[in-house]
Amino acid sequence: MANLVSSWFKTTRILPENYIFPVDERPGSVEVPLCRNIPLIDLSTTQSQIVQEILHACQEFGFFQVINHGVSVDLINDTMELFKEIFNMPVEEKEKLYTNDPTKSYKFFTSSYNYIDEKIHFWRDNLQHPCHPIDEWVHSWPEKPTNYRNVVRKYSLEVRKLSLRMLELICEGLGLKHGYFGEELTGAQLLSINHYPRCPDPSLTLGIPKHADHSLIPMLLQESIQGLQVFKDGQWFNVAPVPHAFVVNIGHQLQVISNGKLRSAEHRAVTNLREARTSIASFIFPCQDTIIQPAQLMSDLEVPRFQPFKFKDFSRLFHEKMGDTEAVMKVYRIKP
Ligand code: OGA
Ligand code: NI
Repeated sequence: MANLVSSWFKTTRILPENYIFPVDERPGSVEVPLCRNIPLIDLSTTQSQIVQEILHACQEFGFFQVINHGVSVDLINDTMELFKEIFNMPVEEKEKLYTNDPTKSYKFFTSSYNYIDEKIHFWRDNLQHPCHPIDEWVHSWPEKPTNYRNVVRKYSLEVRKLSLRMLELICEGLGLKHGYFGEELTGAQLLSINHYPRCPDPSLTLGIPKHADHSLIPMLLQESIQGLQVFKDGQWFNVAPVPHAFVVNIGHQLQVISNGKLRSAEHRAVTNLREARTSIASFIFPCQDTIIQPAQLMSDLEVPRFQPFKFKDFSRLFHEKMGDTEAVMKVYRIKP
């Protein structure tokens, strides 16, 4: 348990060797530009305008941010404060919560699922648990702080509602039949909270290395501290933190369903010399046995670019290949 970065980082001013990434993976000292083009979409405008903007963003960047989304600022602040409180708890308290048991749905751990075997660790701690259907899971969540279940329940429900709204808009944009993203495709939700303590040398390490998300649709709440970077046209860009906005991106499942029309962009999290950063990711997943395949898109003449697969097989492969997106997609991609 003593391995949680948030429990020991204050004891060293030097980045331990096993956190130093290879030269071609580490951020280095080069200045990363802000991506000015990641659209900030105002959900209070007209439906047809929103659909157009979202579709454009998903095709071009695979990333966008939403504001005026209906999730209250108070709920956002309370949830963020609560999670920060957890990572700042005394070591003995965190010890009680700690588990990286792969058979458990609830996890509180550091780096990746593969801590024991990995050569290089990620500079992050993570708390994660399922949250849909909520009444099935709420009892397995932490009991402390005492308002945890109450606040996180509200937050999970609100964020799920917003994710489903995004899917409806994407559905319309893709020309799929209304309600296409039903319970089979959206039957699971995972809340995953990352905490990146301040780091003695952000140029050498990463909070999360380059990856794309294997869910259907992720939605991320970040603090006003820069850390999320997206890889576009062979270059890294910072995603500007916008207070109380959600960052939305395309997961692999949506990439396949859209027959590759929507991009599942690679991204990473870098660390910060002076400040800790916490981010709250909510992932919507299909049910384990759901078959994922390109939907009947606009025309029957369209050639499918991916083979059908069961979501659980994709998931297993994704974890076996340790999140190596290209290695997994290669298995299912149909060569032209
Ligand atoms: C993730 C992720 C980025 C961040 O959790 O999959 O990409 O900024 N997080 O924490
Ligand atoms: Ni991610």
